[in-house]
Amino acid sequence: MSRVGDHASCIYRNPNEPVEARVSDLLSRMTMKEKLAQMAQIDKSVATPTVLKTLSIGSVVSGGGSAPMGRASAADWAHMIDFFQHYALQSRLGIPIIYGTDAVHGHNNVYGATIFPHNVGLGATRDVDLVQRIGAATALEVRATGVHYTFAPCVAVCRDPRWGRCYESYSEDPETVRKMTSIVSGLQGSPPAGHPEGYPYLAGRNNVIACAKHFVGDGGTKRGINEGNTISSFDDLEKIHLVPYLDCISQGVCTIMPSYSSWNGSKMHSDKFLLTNILKDKLGFKGFVISDWEGIDRLSHPHGSDYRYCIHASITAGVDMVMVPFRYEHFLEDLMSLVESGEIPMARIDDAVSRILRVKFVAGLFEHPMTDRSLLDVLGCKMHRELAREAVRKSLVLLKNGKDPNKPFLPLDRNAGAILVSGGHANDIGLQCGGWTIAWHGDSGRITIGTSILDAIKETAGEQTEVIYERHPSPSTLARKDISFAIVVVGEPPYAESLGDNAELKIPFNGTELICYVADRLPTLVILISGRPLVLEPQLLEKVDAVVAAWLPGTEGKGITDALFGDYDFKGVLPVTWFRNVDQLPMCVGDQCYDPLFPVGFGLKFNMDSQPQ
Ligand code: GLC
Repeated sequence: MSRVGDHASCIYRNPNEPVEARVSDLLSRMTMKEKLAQMAQIDKSVATPTVLKTLSIGSVVSGGGSAPMGRASAADWAHMIDFFQHYALQSRLGIPIIYGTDAVHGHNNVYGATIFPHNVGLGATRDVDLVQRIGAATALEVRATGVHYTFAPCVAVCRDPRWGRCYESYSEDPETVRKMTSIVSGLQGSPPAGHPEGYPYLAGRNNVIACAKHFVGDGGTKRGINEGNTISSFDDLEKIHLVPYLDCISQGVCTIMPSYSSWNGSKMHSDKFLLTNILKDKLGFKGFVISDWEGIDRLSHPHGSDYRYCIHASITAGVDMVMVPFRYEHFLEDLMSLVESGEIPMARIDDAVSRILRVKFVAGLFEHPMTDRSLLDVLGCKMHRELAREAVRKSLVLLKNGKDPNKPFLPLDRNAGAILVSGGHANDIGLQCGGWTIAWHGDSGRITIGTSILDAIKETAGEQTEVIYERHPSPSTLARKDISFAIVVVGEPPYAESLGDNAELKIPFNGTELICYVADRLPTLVILISGRPLVLEPQLLEKVDAVVAAWLPGTEGKGITDALFGDYDFKGVLPVTWFRNVDQLPMCVGDQCYDPLFPVGFGLKFNMDSQPQ
């Protein structure tokens, strides 16, 4: 097959030509089949050399946890992706693929990558610059592995902590979420002055294509049911859930992903008013809209029963690329039939493909389709781990510090005689990272390289101090007179999406009982590892000496001891309401009836005190 575009005269191959001229030129050369294939994102498991060479597929994806092999290195990832790209470039027009994955708190699918705190912890920092730096560091680690595209940031405004994706939301407060969208400029680079509003932007090879998700109202579903229904006026939808997208678009976000959820019963993946009239026409978004994983299949019941209807409804509504990700032949066949019958106008196809090509040109993929191997050593580097440690430190929220306000319990004495550390989350990297880490839903154990909270305590405590670790402390240990205090680290198991939907929100694994058992016998600090506030029983709060909300801190446990032992003061403030009991839910800052245990914005410091309301 003769390859078009080898000769330099092709406008689309000339990087000195304006992007729009390159888009038009390439679009004019494409067959219908090539145009439709650009609208397909397929899983890496079905991306064969033949498929990539013959179909001109738009994108390939690694879903949550989908690595080349167990504990794959950056080089393994780069080799895999360059292998795919090699065959894509052999297609008739040589259009490169975009390779995408979820790097939502660092490059979390990759063993050895720096794992940053999940978004709820970053929301507690309120630190715009820090989050932008995290975006830049994440982009470097993502590009080091050859990946071009991350399905991040999630800019959900979580209005009910019972939602299984609560920790992917920076805050229940739209203004805090808006501030944290600075991560887009970190991931993609900051657009220069005068950059056209709504136009996708990418600074260079050290940056990564971002994806603001899940458009719109994913965090507002009734009772926090994942993929559920957000019932609200358009005015409230705009004020609460839409506003962060304005900030992402103004930073040149390249892609936006619709939510599985619905607004007033209308499925987002087929809502033309919101995807086209609002997002594209009114807000002027000129990147591309990519569906969620099998997002269009969920438009009919049972899933995918009338796939042709699903394709028609989603593409017509404004979806440009479909994360199919497996049955791409069926997708392309039905899409072709819909276009040939005129049910989907050619103009809609040309608009979708133009948006996809625009992002590929802006991202420089035609000039630099292969991995920059000089970045390989960046993965999990010391500088990034120090940044993650800073983020952990700034994310911690001190909820209680001493039974007597005049006798603060923290900072801890690093030269205490002996310290007892208890609880299942004290010595478990997997638990402290949470979901979306190595595996889609996360896992317990030493799942990647990092510093556990126990290791951090041992490294920070004085040389003469004995650090005792008993997950469930024995009566004899609790009876020891030389133990100065106990640190009990408890919390949630890792979870993702609907697996995390929870209406009880108690401290799992009998955490409350463990805390009270220890606190009845020793001065006790509690560290909560969780994606959201959990019920703190009154008798627990009374018995313990101090409580720290550490959220899901990621691999750098020393960020926690930096504050516990006083090298740094606490800085974090609540990004979400800490309710008294689940019967109060949903309850958000600004509600008329607002009676939290700790309000949004609460956080103690060593040298300042603010009483819980
Ligand atoms: C998931 C999530 C989405 C993610 C996508 C690809 O189901 O809803 O946030 O980006 O699939 O893994």
